[in-house]
Amino acid sequence: MQRDLVRRGRLSDDRTGEVAHFLSSMAADHRIADMDVLVDMAHLLMLERQGIMVTDAAQAIMGALLGFHRDGVPPEAYDEEFEDIHAGKEAALIARVGEEFGGRLHMGRSRNDEVATCIRMRLRDDLIALMEETNDLRGVLLALAGEHRETIMPGFTHLQHAQPTTLAHHLLAYEAAFGRDVGRLRDALVRLNECPLGAAAFASTGYPIDREMTASLLGFDRPMGNSMDAVSTRDFALEALSACAVEMATLSRFCEEIILWSSAFVRFVTLSDGYSSTSSIMPQKKNPDTAEISRAKAGTVAGAFTAALTITRGLPMSYNRDLQELTPHLWQGVTAARESVAVFAGLLRTAAFHPEPMAEEAAVGFSTATELADVLVREFGLPFRTAHSVVGRAVRKGALDLDTVEASAVEVAGISLCDRGLTAERLASALDPAVSVASRGICGGPAPAETARAITEREDALKDDRQWVAGRREAVAAAIGRLVTECERLCVHE
Ligand code: ARG
Repeated sequence: MQRDLVRRGRLSDDRTGEVAHFLSSMAADHRIADMDVLVDMAHLLMLERQGIMVTDAAQAIMGALLGFHRDGVPPEAYDEEFEDIHAGKEAALIARVGEEFGGRLHMGRSRNDEVATCIRMRLRDDLIALMEETNDLRGVLLALAGEHRETIMPGFTHLQHAQPTTLAHHLLAYEAAFGRDVGRLRDALVRLNECPLGAAAFASTGYPIDREMTASLLGFDRPMGNSMDAVSTRDFALEALSACAVEMATLSRFCEEIILWSSAFVRFVTLSDGYSSTSSIMPQKKNPDTAEISRAKAGTVAGAFTAALTITRGLPMSYNRDLQELTPHLWQGVTAARESVAVFAGLLRTAAFHPEPMAEEAAVGFSTATELADVLVREFGLPFRTAHSVVGRAVRKGALDLDTVEASAVEVAGISLCDRGLTAERLASALDPAVSVASRGICGGPAPAETARAITEREDALKDDRQWVAGRREAVAAAIGRLVTECERLCVHE
């Protein structure tokens, strides 16, 4: 029976196993099999409601589909002799309820709209989960920032000590970026949540189907407007992958810093053992492997996006089998992003940050020279460019003590700062990293009072984002719950 159905999906019998394997999407279809059963259920409910399928056939098929929904698609449906799960599952259905009934389910649709619907549904769940995982990471960052508002650390430009900042300020910079990532994922989710079902091969169908009904049963906002677009586009996958790739670019920067910070010559952080590995030869080693793998996953996700984009470019309308080749890249990219974000949140949550070496480094390399120049401007009347030259000259002489700064001011501008009231105490306080940080209290700066305000603001934004995602998750779950209930009701229908 199974052989017979496999054979019927082919032009002739002369296909080798090698070619069957080459053409089959079965390996990737494991990911959409559950969704495919839901798509079948919604389609069948609609066919019956529209009077396209007689009720006793609908009941028989629905009984089998509810079994697949409960227990999973049966193993024989995954035989690679079938082109895909859609064909394998139809064969399994016919084997259970007979062709007289089971052979009627594919009225008014094609695998082209079927697969596009399944992929959108699976991706919808993945994007919701990735947003939740990213929001959890943001929560970890905000909690850590709250603990480290007074933790002075060096800030860098060009990886050179630049100006002192705080760990909270640094963490909030990443939180802001991850907040935008959630925004991009949210946009992608809203645009993908339209239902291709009913587009059939591409030209829609002559059956009087109700596309609004299937779209709503499957938790979509609406059916897709154009049936050719519905089966041919994978722009929703490109958009999701690009949002993942952008997020991973940020995450990999953070990984790079964590790797640097955990090194013996920086010592800003110690990772917990659970997120570290040792060496098979060097017993003393503790390596930041989770951060390294996450950093590398950014390459995997960018590669998935590039592959998907390259596969779709230049394809004529409408469905082309090339599209099948894109789907595994989608799952690989989204999975890599999800795993990396979740693991990285755990890494951060369990890491120990070390304020002392951070504070020591904050004062290294004349990092408060900018603040001193600002003080010379604000309190001693120098133009900024002159103050910059005075302090720069003192730095080149190797000291920012009163004598050197005074001598530099005389040499650069013929001005005595001591005559204008500069004292050793005022100089020392201008050079204190904590004073420098505290003076940078304008919006977005590192001053502890400002980061306290920023944390409150970002916590509110995070709360809104969490609520939005929870609403989406609930809406999908409610739709699927209603679908299953209606399907069960059809089966008890007299
Ligand atoms: N397996 C195909 C895919 O993943 C879906 C089926 C469309 N196949 C076809 N021959 N029209 O894209």
